[in-house]
Amino acid sequence: MPINNSHIDLEEIEKYTIAHYDDNAESFRVGTQDHDVSQNIAALLDVLPKDKSLDILDFGCGPGRDMCVFKAMGHNPVGLDGSMEFCKMAEMQSGCPTLNQQFLELDLEENCYDGIFANASLFHVPSQELPRVLTELHSALRTGGILFFSNPRGNAEGWQGQRYGNYMEFEASELYLEQSGFKIVDHFYRPAGKSRDEQPWLAIVSQREV
Ligand SMILES: C[S@@+](CC[C@H](N)C(=O)[O-])C[C@H]1O[C@@H](n2cnc3c(N)ncnc32)[C@H](O)[C@@H]1O
Repeated sequence: MPINNSHIDLEEIEKYTIAHYDDNAESFRVGTQDHDVSQNIAALLDVLPKDKSLDILDFGCGPGRDMCVFKAMGHNPVGLDGSMEFCKMAEMQSGCPTLNQQFLELDLEENCYDGIFANASLFHVPSQELPRVLTELHSALRTGGILFFSNPRGNAEGWQGQRYGNYMEFEASELYLEQSGFKIVDHFYRPAGKSRDEQPWLAIVSQREV
């Protein structure tokens, strides 16, 4: 993995990472539209109330595949993405509102969501900014609300081509979550049923308790 972490420029990180997705939006949509993340969706919904429509923020929603699933289940998803191309696709596909915001400049209402679903997105936040972003997500959740994230795991941070990523194992993720006020409820590795070295994805379910 070609990682060069010698120079951290936060504006550059967001600009180039989002530009990469903007420039490849249609091929990303086509390449990921059939990805089965039902295990991740279930992991979020299993620990939330079953008897009501839930307000769910799809953080880094991409083209909106999972917003369509939440909507079809009777919930109220709102997308968030820095890529304007993805915001347009997500709104068109799902018919749900989408916020065009950058992770490092979030402007979220407090106590607003029952769940936050961050599928393959939070790893784009540089480690030095992660405590602040997690604290903002914590505030955006209602008490008892759930943050789900799934990230490619590892022990490295830096550029991979035109995208910046922070790859963490469970122990590092746990520290960040606990420092930001979350209680970890569950974690698992994906794809299911493989040996650990064939499971590049780490998923964590955590809760805002107060
Ligand atoms: C790997 S894609 C995942 C998309 C979608 N959640 C999925 O599962 O297909 C990462 C997403 O995060 C968004 N993203 C990356 N860095 C961002 C940033 N700094 N601010 C806002 N969005 C960002 C990208 O535009 C992209 O939609």
